[in-house]
Amino acid sequence: MDRRACLLPVLAIAAFASAGRAQDSAGGQTSVQVPDEGRAVYEQICQACHMADAKGGDGAGARIPALAGNPRLADKDYPVTLLLKGRGGMPWFTEILTHRQMAAVVNYVRGHFNSFPGTVTEAYVDRVASAPPPKPDCMTCGN
Ligand code: HEC
Repeated sequence: MDRRACLLPVLAIAAFASAGRAQDSAGGQTSVQVPDEGRAVYEQICQACHMADAKGGDGAGARIPALAGNPRLADKDYPVTLLLKGRGGMPWFTEILTHRQMAAVVNYVRGHFNSFPGTVTEAYVDRVASAPPPKPDCMTCGN
C-alpha cells in the first residue's frame, strides 16, 4: 500500500477516536480498559498498515513488517520507541496517541499477536519518552 494513501485515513480516524475519548473523560469514566483500548487503537490505526492479522504486507510503496510472531517485540522498549519516534515508513504517534494508548496497544500487540510476558504501563512509556535508549538494531537502518 502506498504510504501516503495509507496515512491519511489513519489520521482522520485518529482524530475521531480522540474526540470520543474526550467525551468519555467528561462523563467521569475512570475504569481502565487496557485490553479493549489496545484492540481499539490497533483496529483504528495500526491495522491500516500492519493488517488485521498483523502479518504485514508487501505494498507497492512500502514493505510493512509483521507484528505477529515477531521476536523483536520481546523487548518492550522496542515497540514503545517505534511509537514515540517512528522509523522509515512507520509514523510516530506522539501527536495522536496518549502514552496510555501507546501502552495499551503495545500490550495488545505483544500479548494478542505474540505471547510475550510483561506489561507496559503508561509510566513506562513516560520513562522511555524522557530517556530514549539508543536502539541501533533495526530492519532498515540507513534510510
Ligand atoms: C502508515 C503505515 C503504518 C501505520 C499506521 C503503523 N505502522 Fe508500524 N510500521 C510501518 C512500517 C512501514 C514499518 C517498518 C519501518 C522500518 O523498519 O523502516 C513499521 C514497523 C513497525 C514496528 C517494528 C517491526 C519490526 O519488526 O521492526 C512495530 C513494533 C510497529 N510498526 C508497530 C505499530 C503499531 C503498534 C502501530 C499502531 C499504533 C503501527 N505500527 C502503525 C507502517 C505503519
